[in-house]
Amino acid sequence: MSQQRSSLVSSSDPGPRTTDPSRFLAACRRQPVDRPPAWIMRQAGRYLPEYRATRAEAGSFLALCRNPELAAEVTLQPIRRFGFDAAIIFSDILLPLAPLGVHFAFPDEGGPRIEAPLARPEEWEALQPPADGVGTSFVAEAISRVRAALPADVALIGFCGAPWTLASYLVEGGTSREHAAVKAALFAHPAELGALLLRLADAMALYLRQQVAAGAQAVQVFDSWAGALAEREYAEFVVPALARLLAALDDLDVPRILYLGGGAHLVGAVASLPIDVLGVDWRTDLTRAALATGKAVQGNLDPAVLLSSPDAVSRATRRMTAAAPPTGYIANLGHGILPHTPLAAVTAFLDAVRGGQ
Ligand code: CP3
Repeated sequence: MSQQRSSLVSSSDPGPRTTDPSRFLAACRRQPVDRPPAWIMRQAGRYLPEYRATRAEAGSFLALCRNPELAAEVTLQPIRRFGFDAAIIFSDILLPLAPLGVHFAFPDEGGPRIEAPLARPEEWEALQPPADGVGTSFVAEAISRVRAALPADVALIGFCGAPWTLASYLVEGGTSREHAAVKAALFAHPAELGALLLRLADAMALYLRQQVAAGAQAVQVFDSWAGALAEREYAEFVVPALARLLAALDDLDVPRILYLGGGAHLVGAVASLPIDVLGVDWRTDLTRAALATGKAVQGNLDPAVLLSSPDAVSRATRRMTAAAPPTGYIANLGHGILPHTPLAAVTAFLDAVRGGQ
């Protein structure tokens, strides 16, 4: 392992200097880089044996998220092992909902559960954004710990859930395939659901500002369930909430990334948002997304590719990077890495991005 690691480190020599000390931040700003920066969504997670050990030490996933020392440790683990170009702070999109009075749990199977899903407009109105930083200071503390420990050229990404994806969890009560309850709520009570999205936008803007104040150098807004909506509804209800969230960060000098899950049909709808980078999944063509938006793009290897052989991972990754725009491109998967992914697949992915095999 240590031999492998040192060869990774030497192959990540900075090469031609960019105007930015971080390859990742330069690519976000569409400045020239020697090679595409690479990181992986959910790079700190169960596919890593050291993550499983720290999670066991913490006792539970939520305890791990709320312990700044251990959250910082698991954020750094994939950087140490693989030398990714960016770290993403270890947390979950639901954690900043706790200060709004939402109770949830992360059972071992089946994803997060909201204890009392919010089905009625009166319940949505009761959710009010907390004062800046209230109830999430553990995230800020983990961020300052990570920033202090990271090499200068590895950028630290803060994140939040997008209003629509959070609303899906709040109304559905958990991860949903059809999103039928939240969509029914939108069609039955458009004004009230629209207002909920705006309230969530305000709360997430405060949360991201807190993360940037603590040391996050870029922010990513995860709209994982964007693709559940047609373009018409996305443009009418979701884009205004995203615009409000993103505009509230205008005065901060940090790149803004929007991740659009299943959103090939939504690229046009988000093109006018104040974002620097559009993250897409494997259903969306990277170059078409770049041309349609004029933004940097991030993605988009199907995480299932990493369950094949290292050779197949290399081939698919090289095909992806060869077709990606030459500037303004960040290599990533199209969604989070799957828990049973072999470590060798991650190495094959990174070697291929770095111009190795
Ligand atoms: O990327 C990272 O390394 C940072 C950590 C991170 C987690 N969740 C940790 C996590 C991030 C960025 C998230 C975001 C998140 N959480 C999203 C948006 C990204 C996406 O994947 O679409 C969503 C939809 C959630 C909600 C959520 N949290 C789900 C659906 C699950 C269960 C999924 C699963 O794999 O079991 C979680 C739990 C979760 N969040 C885990 C991790 C590492 C697994 C928890 C464990 O260790 O048992």
